Amino acid sequence: VGVLKGAIMVMADLSRELRFHAQMDWMVVSSYGAGTKSSGVVRILKDLDSDITDRDVLIVEDIIESGLTLSWLKENFQSRGAKSVRIVTMLRKPTLQKVDLEVEYVGYDIPEDFVVGYGLDYAEDYRNLRDVAILSPTMYEDK
Ligand code: PRP
Repeated sequence: VGVLKGAIMVMADLSRELRFHAQMDWMVVSSYGAGTKSSGVVRILKDLDSDITDRDVLIVEDIIESGLTLSWLKENFQSRGAKSVRIVTMLRKPTLQKVDLEVEYVGYDIPEDFVVGYGLDYAEDYRNLRDVAILSPTMYEDK
């Protein structure tokens, strides 16, 4: 299950490396309420098309920051009766993590810099960059 939109590149590349049949599904989620990304309450904007009862689920993410989104999603999938729920993320920012979250597969642990590219955006820009890059703070700090 890819979590849109950021996971699109990871999903595209990872899925083509799998040497077994895997079905792909997608979710779109958004933080709900307080306005901050990391409120921990998640609103489903697009739900799974498939029934995951008794299925082995791998959640595919681009980045984990607070961990709240994935923690919520993992629990949600478990409550739907998934046989197993594992997580793969390209990037993780351990210093921002707010909840204990077991992540089976981590590409890179990175510092708190704002990163863009390869699915990651800044105000919807830069997702299509081939590489992951650190966005210069001059792009978002008050001048
Ligand atoms: C990002 C990322 C995760 C979430 C991680 O998505 O793809 O879903 O934030 O943050 P957390 O660990 O603090 O919960 P975003 O809301 O930016 O949406 P996008 O994938 O459409 O860019």
